[in-house]
Amino acid sequence: MKAQIPNSIALRLIVPGVVGLITTEYRGRTNVTTVSWMMPAGREPPLVALAVHPSTLCHDLIKRSGEFVVNIPTIDVLNQVMTCGRLSGNDVDKFARTGLALAEPKVVRPPLIEQCIAHLECALVNAFQPGDHTIFLGEVAYAQAEEGAFEETWLLEDKTTKPLHHLGSNWFGVLEERIEAS
Ligand SMILES: Cc1cc2nc3c(=O)[nH]c(=O)nc-3n(C[C@H](O)[C@H](O)[C@H](O)COP(=O)(O)O)c2cc1C
Repeated sequence: MKAQIPNSIALRLIVPGVVGLITTEYRGRTNVTTVSWMMPAGREPPLVALAVHPSTLCHDLIKRSGEFVVNIPTIDVLNQVMTCGRLSGNDVDKFARTGLALAEPKVVRPPLIEQCIAHLECALVNAFQPGDHTIFLGEVAYAQAEEGAFEETWLLEDKTTKPLHHLGSNWFGVLEERIEAS
């Protein structure tokens, strides 16, 4: 017996993706935005796709600068993740509001977020709008992760070194364990 799921929440059946705190920068203006509609989109070169609503400052700054950073938060910064997904940088300075600290990027201009366990610095290679969100395709130019959190894959050893997954609305999960197939 299966119950019909309303189309309005049907996409929650194919989440949970890893949550990203997307940092953006253009002419000295920086911002951070929570984005969970994110997926790998190419292996060589490595591409990441973000679905970003055109009303956001994130959208504006990616379009103008051609760069973004995907920062991977943990449960330790869950409140900040919600704040960065509820407020717009058009209205408030989310770094000041949340206490998220900036760290130096390696190859792009948008800053890294110190409290995150991994960072993918990306250069925009394409953008298209199939529906009400824009798909930004970024090529990974530099990536780094905490040792002890990631070695060839996420290690999933404890909650403070696991990425967050967004289930929909204000629900999140973390993966229980890593399982090796034969
Ligand atoms: C958990 C979570 C996930 C979100 N995922 C997305 C997303 O994938 N794409 C998007 O456009 N907005 C997403 N949002 C909403 C934006 O983060 C929100 O509109 C934000 O206020 C935009 O900020 P900005 O204007 O500073 O860029 C999400 C919000 C939350 C709380």
